[in-house]
Order: sequence, then C-alpha cells, then structure tokens
Amino acid sequence: MRVPERFSCALLAAAAAMATACVLAQRAYPWTENCRKATYPPSGPTYRGPVPWYTINLDLPPYKRWHEVVTDMAPGLRNIVQNIKNMVNTFFPSGKVMKMVDEHLPSMLGNLPWPFEEELKGVADVSGIPLGEIISFNIFYELFTVCTAIIGEDKKGHLFHARNMDFGIFLGWNMNNNSWTVTENLKPITVNLNFQKNNQTVFKATSFAGYVGALTGMKPGIFSLTLNERFSSNGGYLGLIEWLLGRREDTWIGFLLRSVLENATSYEEAKNLLIKTTVLAPAYFVLGGNKSGEGCVITRARKSTLDIYELKPKEGRWFLVETNYDHWKAPFFLDDRRKPAIICLNQTTQENVSLASLYDVLSTKPVLNKLTVYTTLMDVPGDVYESYLRDCPDPCIGW
Ligand SMILES: *[C@@H]1O[C@H](CO)[C@@H](O)[C@H](O)[C@H]1NC(C)=O
Ligand SMILES: *[C@@H]1O[C@H](CO)[C@@H](O)[C@H](O)[C@H]1NC(C)=O
Ligand SMILES: *[C@@H]1O[C@H](CO)[C@@H](O)[C@H](O)[C@H]1NC(C)=O
Ligand SMILES: *[C@@H]1O[C@H](CO)[C@@H](O)[C@H](O)[C@H]1NC(C)=O
Ligand SMILES: *[C@@H]1O[C@H](CO)[C@@H](O)[C@H](O)[C@H]1NC(C)=O
Ligand SMILES: *[C@@H]1O[C@H](CO)[C@@H](O)[C@H](O)[C@H]1NC(C)=O
Repeated sequence: MRVPERFSCALLAAAAAMATACVLAQRAYPWTENCRKATYPPSGPTYRGPVPWYTINLDLPPYKRWHEVVTDMAPGLRNIVQNIKNMVNTFFPSGKVMKMVDEHLPSMLGNLPWPFEEELKGVADVSGIPLGEIISFNIFYELFTVCTAIIGEDKKGHLFHARNMDFGIFLGWNMNNNSWTVTENLKPITVNLNFQKNNQTVFKATSFAGYVGALTGMKPGIFSLTLNERFSSNGGYLGLIEWLLGRREDTWIGFLLRSVLENATSYEEAKNLLIKTTVLAPAYFVLGGNKSGEGCVITRARKSTLDIYELKPKEGRWFLVETNYDHWKAPFFLDDRRKPAIICLNQTTQENVSLASLYDVLSTKPVLNKLTVYTTLMDVPGDVYESYLRDCPDPCIGW
C-alpha cells in the first residue's frame, strides 16, 4: 500500500499549510467591504481582462479537438505544469512522485471513458507535455476548486446564474506581490469554449487550456451548471486512492459535468444525472434551468445525494448561494463568503437581480479574493454567456 502512504504525506503537508494559513488569516481577517455597486461592465483594478473564445468541434475525432487551443496556450500550460511539478518535488524531494506520474499514470489510461482518453492523448502530443503530467493536471481540478456560485431570479421569473472560480489554495504564495502562484498561472490559460456539432453550439464552457472536463458551462435555452468543491472526510483523496488502486466505477466530477453539458437535453435530465451518478469526489452541483423555479444546489457525497436545495420563488426564496459548505451548516469561521454574498443579494432586492447586479456581488470582498481566477455570468433564457478574468488588489484576503 505505497500509494496511500504518499497521499497521507500530502495530507500532512496540506495540514501544515492550513495551520500557517490560519495564522495569516487571524492577522488578515476580516477583509470585507460594503456591497459593491455599478461594477458592470467590468473595468478598473479588479478586472484583469477578457477571456478568449475557441471553438471545440465535436465532429472531429477526439484526438484532434483540442489542437488549436492547446497550440496557442502551450507556453502557459507548460509553465503551470512545471510549477506544479516543482511544488510536488519540494514536498517529495526524491523526485519519485513525478517519476511515478510519468511512468505509471499513462498505463492506467486504458480505463478512462470515451472520449476523454483520446482527447488527453491529443492534448499531450500537441503540448509536448508527458501524458502522465497532463492526466495529473486534469485530476488536479477535482481537488482544489473553492468557489462561490449564485442562482437568482427576478420578479418576472427570469433566471440568472453566476460564479467566481477560486482556485489554487495552498499552491505557492508569492510574497513579492501577495498572490497565489497557481491562481496567477491559470489566468493566461483561461479560455471560453464553444462546443459545436454541425456548426451549431451544443454548449459553452469556461475552462483552462489542457483540461478536458468542465467546471462551468451553459446549454443555451436549457440549463447552466457549475461545480463547487465539497470538503469531507470521505473526500476526493480517498476516491483518488481507490481509483489508483483499480476501482473504476466512479466518475470524475469534471467529466460528469462535461457529459451532462454535452448530452443532457433538459433541466430534469441534467438534474437526474447529477443526483444519481456515483462520483469520485464529494461536490456541490449548482444547476439552473430556463424558467422560474428551475434552480438547485445538489449536495453530493461520493455514492449518494445528501440534499437538494431548490429555488422557491413563491415562498420568497428567489436566490441560492453556494460556496464550499453544506447550506444547512455554518461555514468555517475563517472562510465565510456565504454571508457577505447573502447580505449583498438582500440589498440588491429581487426587482434588481440581473447579470450586472450579480457581478457586483461577486466583486465584493471576500467573495472576490486572491484565489479568484474568473467570474462567469450566465443567462440561459437570454443566451448570454460572459467570463472575465479577475484580480483582487491589496488589501484583499488570501481566499
Ligand atoms: C505576481 O508576480 C508573478 C510572478 O512575477 C506574476 O506572474 C503575477 O501575474 C503577479 N500577480 C499580480 C497580481 O500582480
Ligand atoms: C461548417 O462551416 C464551415 C465554414 O463555414 C463549412 O466549411 C463546413 O462544411 C460546415 N460544416 C458542417 C458540418 O456543416
Ligand atoms: C427558454 O426561455 C425563453 C424565454 O422564456 C423561451 O423563449 C425559450 O423558448 C426557452 N427555451 C427552451 C429551449 O425552452
Ligand atoms: C455524448 O454522447 C455521445 C453519443 O452517445 C457519446 O459518443 C459521447 O462520448 C458523449 N459525450 C461525453 C462527453 O460523454
Ligand atoms: C436576507 O433576507 C432574508 C429575508 O428577509 C432574511 O431571512 C435573512 O436573514 C437575510 N440574511 C442576511 C445575511 O442578511
Ligand atoms: C433598483 O434599480 C432601480 C433602477 O435602476 C434603482 O432606482 C433602485 O435604487 C434599485 N434598488 C436597489 C434596492 O438597489
């Protein structure tokens, strides 16, 4: 059982990092601010810039689909993979972990479902990065995604869904300019993807070049979907270890989201798949539909669904907020992004909920923080899909 030992080392290292982070947090917290207003359209120091669009042609063989985006983004992708390798080698100086990744992960690939295996091979060949490292880069997102997602509907029953993607906690703090190394590395490889068949959009997604799953996406006229990490003792590490040891019946969460976006044809079908599929890591799925009342936060354990929290506009529940905690429990006291978001939504009022007002909420610290890579705004009935790269200049909390 050598693999689990290595992972328990990683857990210890993470615990040490967490303790350091808590000390820092006591000095830094609270870095909150009044609800922001009129931040949309994005500009100023919290706006890093636009996210470029690429088309992913699903009519091409999977091996060829990512050619264009990965060719353009290869330098950025090589940079982040190298930085992650450096961090792993700092934790495990013998270099054995990276050797295991390069030599053994590819032989496990035979077990990844169609079309992901072929797509990953294509990404590896075009970027010149070893396949095992591309697989690790894809696994990575299952474990470190901390985010805020909001679904709200206005008085007319028009639905809006927006999210901040916060990523890279514990992955290298840069003291020179108070930023997270991996968070910063992700900004230049963030892409908007238009997945098409027969030259027609099947769904849109915001992703990182080289990643073939989905974390944020919208099927125009039908549904919007985002993933938030859920920390739990029976967590993603266990699922990952089981998977490495050969248990293959559970689905990678990023792959599940991609399959649902690609192949589900209604809100109900998407909801059903998200509730029933067994997954490798616990998660929150935030799903919005095309009409009033169609919005829910699905709290998942790996093998079961623990809770489905739904919009109930008739009873006054016109928005849902999910960060990284079960909605029926208090968040970790050093990481309460939920309450600030709810206060700002209450101030906004249902009359004024819109993509612009949701962008205001997602621009308010600490909902916006040093981990925030991008903000996505989705309007399913109106077919609007926009993503923006973010910055959180000092004073700003680290997460
Ligand atoms: C901080 O410095 C790093 C390395 O020079 C750079 O990549 C990153 O963009 C900087 N971040 C900010 C927020 O200025
Ligand atoms: C998609 O559009 C391109 C150029 O507009 C055209 O060459 C191609 O044949 C079209 N493909 C399909 C499947 O309709
Ligand atoms: C989604 O809602 C809009 C606005 O109500 C409507 O025009 C459109 O037909 C709906 N789309 C689908 C696929 O039901
Ligand atoms: C969607 O369904 C098609 C047809 O069954 C299948 O070939 C494809 O691999 C599926 N896509 C994903 C991402 O699972
Ligand atoms: C938001 O408003 C609701 C309904 O008025 C209220 O129950 C809730 O306590 C408010 N939440 C916060 C954090 O202000
Ligand atoms: C809602 O929007 C209207 C029109 O833009 C504005 O006059 C009003 O003050 C807003 N209400 C709140 C509570 O922000």
